[in-house]
Amino acid sequence: MKQIVLASYAKGNPRPSDFRVEEVPIPTAGEREILLRTLWLAVDPLFRFAIDEVRLSGALHLQLGDVMVGATVSEVIASNHPDYKPGDVVEGRTGWREYAVVAPDQADYRGPPRKLDPSLAPVSTALGVLGMPGQTAHGGIETLRIKPGETVAISAAAGAVGSIAGQIAKIHGARAVGIAGGAGKVQALLDLGFDGAADYKAPDFAAQLKAAAPNGIDCYFDNTGGDVTLEVFKQLNRGSRMAMCGYIAYYGMGYEGPGPDHMPALYRTIMGTGLEIRGFAGFMAGQKALDDIAGWISDGKLTYPEAVVEGIEAAPQAFASVFSGHDFVGKLLVKVAEPA
Ligand SMILES: NC(=O)c1ccc[n+]([C@@H]2O[C@H](COP(=O)([O-])OP(=O)(O)OC[C@H]3O[C@@H](n4cnc5c(N)ncnc54)[C@H](OP(=O)(O)O)[C@@H]3O)[C@@H](O)[C@H]2O)c1
Repeated sequence: MKQIVLASYAKGNPRPSDFRVEEVPIPTAGEREILLRTLWLAVDPLFRFAIDEVRLSGALHLQLGDVMVGATVSEVIASNHPDYKPGDVVEGRTGWREYAVVAPDQADYRGPPRKLDPSLAPVSTALGVLGMPGQTAHGGIETLRIKPGETVAISAAAGAVGSIAGQIAKIHGARAVGIAGGAGKVQALLDLGFDGAADYKAPDFAAQLKAAAPNGIDCYFDNTGGDVTLEVFKQLNRGSRMAMCGYIAYYGMGYEGPGPDHMPALYRTIMGTGLEIRGFAGFMAGQKALDDIAGWISDGKLTYPEAVVEGIEAAPQAFASVFSGHDFVGKLLVKVAEPA
C-alpha cells in the first residue's frame, strides 16, 4: 500500500516536495482493532501547523518520516471490535495512507471512528459540510450573534468553511459578502447565493468590497488575517463583531511574522469601532450543528460545492495549492478508492 510521509519541514507555504510517497505492507488488525481502507481524504489548512520544524504551542507536530496527518472517510475491511463490522463506513483522522489500523478503545478527545450512514448523504460530506468544516461554519456564525439585515463579510469565502458560512449567514437574515481570490471565485460565490463578492487579488479590491457592502460591515467571519483583514477593518461599522476562525495568511510564519507590525491598525480598529473579536473551535459546535445543516440541505436552503482530485499521490499538490492558490470552490477532497 501507499502512504505519504513528511520528507522535509515546510518553510513558508508547503510544497509538494515536502512529502514523499512510500510503499509499505498493509497492516493487520490486532485484538479490538479494525483495519480501514481509505476512500476519501481531506486537505485541511489546519495541518500546516504539524509540519513546522519548531513545534508551535498546542499544535500537533510531526517528525520527518511520519505519515502526514489528515481527516479521512474509510471502509472497514476487517474488524476485531464488536462495534464495527466489515463494510461499515467511518470518518476519522487516519492520515495520508491507503490502509490504517485503528484501536477504537484508545481514541483521543475526538472519539472513536464515527460511523456514517451512506443512505443519508454521500459519505464524502463527512469531511466537509456534514463534518468539521460544516460545524466550524455553523459555530462561527453563532459566535457573531447576527441581527437580521446586518452585513456579514467572510474571507476565504470560496473555501470549505466560508462557502457554508455565507449561506448560513443568509439563513440568519444577513446580507452575505464573500471575499475570495479571482474573478472565477467571485462569480461562484454569487452563484451560491452570496449577495455580493470581492476579489482580494484585484487592484481595486477595496472598491469592490465597498460596492458589495455599501452600508459597511457589521460582522466579519475571518478565515485569513493578512491584507484582506486589514481592508475589512477599514470598512467595519461601530459595534461590529468578528469571529476569528483561522489566519491562513500567517500559517507559515511561526509566532512572529517578518513585519511590518499591524498591531497599530488592530488597536485603532478596536478603539474606533468597539469591535469584539472571539476565536472559536469549530468541532465544539457538535451534533446540533450537523443536524441543523442536514435540515437546511434537505429544505433546499444550503448547497455544498465539492472539488475532487484523484489518487493518494495527488494529496501533496492539493495541500500545497490551498496556500499557493487554486481554482477549486468548496471542500477540496482527494478520492483515494471506490468502496469494495
Ligand atoms: N476554528 C476552527 O475550528 C477551524 C476549523 C476549520 C478550519 N479553520 C480555518 O478556517 C480557514 C478556512 O478553512 P477551510 O477548511 O475553509 O479551507 P480551504 O477550503 O482549504 O480554503 C482555504 C482558502 O484560503 C484562501 N487563502 C489561502 N491563503 C490566503 C491568503 N494568504 N490570504 C487570503 N486567502 C488565502 C484560498 O482561497 P482563495 O483562492 O480565495 O485565495 C484557499 O483556497 C483556515 O484558516 C482554517 O485553518 C478553523
